Amino acid sequence: MTIVINMRDGLDERKVKIAARFIKKGKLVAFPTETVYGLGANALDKEAVIKIFHAKGRPADNPLIVHIADFEQVYELAREVPKEAELLAKHFWPGPLTMVLPKKENVPNETTGGLDSVAIRMPSHEIALGLIKASKKPIAAPSANISGRPSPTLAEHVVDDFYGKIECIIDGGETKIGVESTVLDLTTWPPMLLRPGGLPLEKIEEVIGEIQIHPAVMGKEVDLAKSPGMKYKHYSPNAEVVVVEGKKEKVREKLKELIRDLKAEGLKIGVMATGDFYEADEYFNLGESEEEIARNMFKALRELDKKGVDVILAEGIEEKGLGLAIMNRLRKAAGYKIIKVQ
Ligand code: TXA
Ligand code: MG
Repeated sequence: MTIVINMRDGLDERKVKIAARFIKKGKLVAFPTETVYGLGANALDKEAVIKIFHAKGRPADNPLIVHIADFEQVYELAREVPKEAELLAKHFWPGPLTMVLPKKENVPNETTGGLDSVAIRMPSHEIALGLIKASKKPIAAPSANISGRPSPTLAEHVVDDFYGKIECIIDGGETKIGVESTVLDLTTWPPMLLRPGGLPLEKIEEVIGEIQIHPAVMGKEVDLAKSPGMKYKHYSPNAEVVVVEGKKEKVREKLKELIRDLKAEGLKIGVMATGDFYEADEYFNLGESEEEIARNMFKALRELDKKGVDVILAEGIEEKGLGLAIMNRLRKAAGYKIIKVQ
């Protein structure tokens, strides 16, 4: 049975204790963060953590992020904490930054997918922080979607994927940022960006100087041992997704042409784009700003999919700020089916 706890009006201390009790008992609780919903369990309880992998259908070598509510908890999880990590935490925690650090022995190998490092983040969401504090445990939580599906930005998305399969879902309304956290590896020097996310790369570099970017971030084929998450197909709806990239006007021309041609073939077409109207069967307006596009992208993929379109055509955007994270997700959703126009 799944209990859905309504906390759309904000943190409720009494209700959060009910959810925390599930965490303490080694059960699974889905909860909102500022990025996307997480599927949480006690990070130090390997039996509980294994349940996350089973529920999601997640490969065991894809490590989880451990969520904390107090900076001191870092020292219970990481055996070395470089001063850059402390500096970044001061600037960006709570917030959408995950730091990979050498792990302490008490963190189960199940949580870290067998790696000698642990990914840690302090979410900026009162319900997430309230749950971690009330359960008195660091909470391991991947995004609360079935592996390979778009990440959830609404409790409804979590219900679609997990109702009847987990003990508890906290409904905290729509998540603010909409793309997952930025993952930064601090076990190497200079630190390396493993996943672009809600905290733009430029902001990190303002604080600690230039960092390396893992080649897979730019969609290159590489040795994927470092962050196993990168090798799995991600964010894909059932429909075929195609991204069109290039100069805005050219992209729009190309999209219109594709819609016409594919419709002529009898296909049902969905379009996700920024502001303009296309003659598609289904249209999702992502909004104009990077922030709006990030917030809407996963929802657009899920909603267009629900409407049973055969093809989703997505407008590419510039890879600066949040655009880097947005394009990383879109290209993955498309399985790298990208049309470039000049
Ligand atoms: O915003 C987020 O990060 C959300 C919310 C719930 O906090 N969580 C999330 O978790 O997106 P997940 O599991 O979907 O993505 C975690 C990513 C994966 O790409 C994984 O490979 C990487 O972090 N990761 C975790 N631990 C790692 C480690 N020790 N070394 C390298 N990469 C790691
Ligand atoms: Mg995920």
